Amino acid sequence: MTQAGKQLYLVANWKSYKTLAEARAFVEAYRAVDGPTVILCPPFPYLWPLSEKVVAHGMHLGAQDISQYPFGAYTGAVAAAMLTGAVEYVIVGHSERRTYFRETHEMVAQKVREALQAKITPIVCVDEPYMATQLAFFSDDELARIIVAYEPLAAIGSGTPDTPERANMMAENIIQVVQSPIPVLYGGSVTAENVRSFVTQPSIAGVLVGGASLNVDHWQQLVESV
Ligand code: PGA
Repeated sequence: MTQAGKQLYLVANWKSYKTLAEARAFVEAYRAVDGPTVILCPPFPYLWPLSEKVVAHGMHLGAQDISQYPFGAYTGAVAAAMLTGAVEYVIVGHSERRTYFRETHEMVAQKVREALQAKITPIVCVDEPYMATQLAFFSDDELARIIVAYEPLAAIGSGTPDTPERANMMAENIIQVVQSPIPVLYGGSVTAENVRSFVTQPSIAGVLVGGASLNVDHWQQLVESV
């Protein structure tokens, strides 16, 4: 669906939740909605078991993270090239990765490069204090191929979203820094009730949703309400 003629991205980030049975039941219950690009990002082990069904139910598949390294002796790491053909998108640099897994701007930049080489579109999460610093790691060519998600730390999982106007202003800042009309999403306590207030802002091209993406009825309502 387009809001003022723009492609909208609705990204469900399940984080480290759900059993495989719960994940399957969610996808089975979801009904495709025409218009927005709906991207489901389940945990790694569920990507292949879910991939066909996700597409059959009108969604696209994304991963929540990838390794900053290519194939090699990196025990436990999931290289971007391992996901080629399975996922179209990958979330990179989520604040939880930065906080709990000590990811740095350099690591995030390396992950973005790995994703682009593997033909996977990175969704790069940034907050205001380091937005410009993180984006300065990328070439113009790289910037033209990414999606950015503005995710203010205080809004994530708190039930207190940023105001749509401020989020729009941040999206404008990001587009100005990047000097390219790339999609900028907003993330942080988005729900079916408030999603329209964000996606109707002129510079916001969609939302990245955590908590409100876990229940299929709520997610369905959110997608339908844009
Ligand atoms: P939330 O999470 O929707 O639960 O606030 C958003 C996020 O972590 O990207």
